[in-house]
This record gives sequence, structure tokens and C-alpha cells, in this order.
Amino acid sequence: MHCGKVSLEGLAKKFGTPLYVYSGDQIVERLGLFEAALAGREHLVCYAVKANSALAILKLLAERGAGFDIVSGGELERVRAAAPEALGRVVFSGVGKTAEEIKAALAAGILQFNVESEGELALLAQCARKMQVKARFALRVNPDVFAETHPYISTGLREHKFGIDIRKALAMYKSVAGDKWLEAHGVSVHIGSQIRSAEPFGAAMERVAKLAGELEREGIVLETVDAGGGLGIDYHGGSFDAAAKVTEYAAALGKALGGFKGKLLLEPGRFIVGQAGALVARVLTVKRNGKKTFVITDAAMNDLIRPALYQAHHEIVPVRKRAGKRSVVDVVGPVCETGDFFARDRKLAAVEAGDLVALLDAGAYGMAQASNYNTRPRAAEVLVEGGKARLIRRRETMGDLLGPEIL
Ligand code: LLP
Repeated sequence: MHCGKVSLEGLAKKFGTPLYVYSGDQIVERLGLFEAALAGREHLVCYAVKANSALAILKLLAERGAGFDIVSGGELERVRAAAPEALGRVVFSGVGKTAEEIKAALAAGILQFNVESEGELALLAQCARKMQVKARFALRVNPDVFAETHPYISTGLREHKFGIDIRKALAMYKSVAGDKWLEAHGVSVHIGSQIRSAEPFGAAMERVAKLAGELEREGIVLETVDAGGGLGIDYHGGSFDAAAKVTEYAAALGKALGGFKGKLLLEPGRFIVGQAGALVARVLTVKRNGKKTFVITDAAMNDLIRPALYQAHHEIVPVRKRAGKRSVVDVVGPVCETGDFFARDRKLAAVEAGDLVALLDAGAYGMAQASNYNTRPRAAEVLVEGGKARLIRRRETMGDLLGPEIL
């Protein structure tokens, strides 16, 4: 198995396992799909840093003109470290921002704050006044649109913690219209993640566009509409026409936007990096307990928590095929939890201790959600570009893990 022209076996040998391997070429290609689908409309693709925040990936995207969607002061520092020239292309989302984070983002001159509550808007005004700078804000509205996805990653219903009730937004914009330190710059929405159909995006955008029209009639002309992220991918290894998906998505947004003349912002994360990454692990042992067979790998839930947390499916394939029948197994890690699994009752090609397996489509919310649970150092990461592989994050050492502790 290869990433581009680079053999995963070779990479595992050189850098060890568990190992995240990303195709830089695919990441760039995916960004290009959004650019192509939105050509003819003023737009900015603000990659959602949380999906995969590797500095090298941020740099790769920034060099191709991407902006960034951040949700913390930490992610702001990642953008600054990877591509300081892109700070002006940053939107700051998130349901709870601290005064320190807001001030840092104001000082960095980011494009827009996506504000999620009245309290946050007041705090933003206060910070801006103190710093004597104008804060560009968008209200993140909650459109009350249902999106078919896992309940943990659905965000667009009134019962969720996210956003401001769209029915209250007009009054909120009007209430700060005279504020010297606040500029109503846009409106934003994000209804959830891993949404496979374009329809709910269109429905949410229709409501947002209607609000933008109402604001315009009140004399509040917005420069941006931010459609958020959430476009889903195929985790089941079927044929996936990414270009068609993006085209369909962009068309749904465009139709819903109607006569809006400003800039369309997007915040895709998963769609750009998800299918560009694999987690390569080594099989430690194959063991039988009663009727079950367990394939135990050196990667665990601390490396890739998606199956444990969202019952997410990741295809698992041997890096080198060997003779033998496929059989039904559980693929698990060494962490001391029954929830530490990658697959349950999965028909897997024959594997033996010492073999390498690749967990596919692990580029998004894989390493980004990794932890040190069970005092396991986090994996190394490799980026493959144009047939060349390079380490973009070394494997953690025990020094990294124990360093902050005080005895
Ligand atoms: N914008 C906002 C405001 C968000 O909250 C998110 C994701 C995105 C953009 C990017 O969404 P994407 O295009 O990647 O779907 N850990 C979960 C996904 C959590 C998504 C959180 N918000 C998973 O592994 O499935």
C-alpha cells in the first residue's frame, strides 16, 4: 500500500508505528475543488483548523490562499506559527471565548469574530474599546435545521448550545448598530459535521439569506455570509466523487443565497483532510477469547478516538496482502477499556502478528483528538507531497509527557 508513490511499509520502518500519514497532494486537490466550485462568486475558504491542526498542513493550505476557522487562542497561535500572513483571513468561532483570546485575535487583526451569545458580543465590544480597535463580528445564528448525522456532531437545532436563535438575531444586530467599536461584518451558521446531503445546508442558508435581506432593509449591509463547515465524506471505501459533492453543495448554497452580493465564507475541515490521511499501526498479536478473535494493534483509542466516541466506521486494510481467508474479528488497541476498539465484528483480510494495517480516512479528527491516555506518547506524523515524504511531527517522548509534572 502506498501514499502517492511512497510505500507505507517503508515509512513505518523509518518512523515507527503508530504513524499518521497524509497526502499533501490530496489536501491541495480538495481545497481546489472548493475554489473551482465557487469560482465566479466572491469567496474565502476558511479551513477548520480543529480537523487537523498540523502546522505543515496549515502552511500548505495558507500558501494556496486559504483562510482559517479557529476556535481557540491556541489555534490562533498555530496559524501565526504556520502562516502569519494568513492572520487577516481568520474567522474565530466557538461558543465560549475568553477576554485573553479575544484580545489576542483583535491584536492579530483577524477577519471576523463569529459571536455566539449576547454576553460574548458585550465582551468583544469591551475588549475592542480597551484596545481602541474596531471588531468585525458576525452573529452565528442557530437556524433550527435538522441535519442527519451523529447526535454528538449535530449543532443546528434550537436545543443545542450553539449559536443565537435566528429569531433574535435581527434585534441583536440593531441593538449594537451605533457601537463605535463593533462592525456588523457578517452572519454565520454551522449546522453540524459529516452531513452527506446538500439539502440541510441549503435550508439553513435560505434562513440566513433572509436575515441578511432583513438587515439590509434596516440599513445594516453585511460583507460576508459564513456557511460554516460540515460537508461529509464517505468512510466506507465506496466510489466517492468528491468534485460532484462539492459542486452540488456550492450550488445549494448559491441558490439559497439568492441576491446576496457579499463574500461567501466556508469552513470545511473534514472534507479537505479526512480522506487524505491514514493511521498506520502494527498488529501486536491476534488472540482468541471464546468465540471472538481480537486483532490487537499498537494504535489505540488515544490515537484515533472516532470509533469509540461516535461509533464511527474506518476501513481497515492490511498494508501488504497475505494469503489466507478473510475472517470476522474485532480490531482493538492496548488501552484498558472495552471501548478501545477500531472495529467490531468486522470481516478483515488475513493478518498476523507483525503485519501492518492502515486505518483509512483518518486525516480529520484523528491526531487532532489524540491524547496521552494510558501514558501513551502521541504518534508521529508524515506528510507526502509529490512522491516525497517528510516527518512533520516527531513521535512524542517520555520527556515530553513527564516534563510538565511536579513531584
Ligand atoms: N465550523 C465550525 C463552527 C465547527 O464547529 C466545525 C466542526 C467546522 C467548521 C468543521 O466541520 P467539518 O467540515 O470538519 O465537518 N470530532 C468530530 C467532528 C466534530 C466537528 C466539530 N465542529 C468527528 O470526528 O466526527
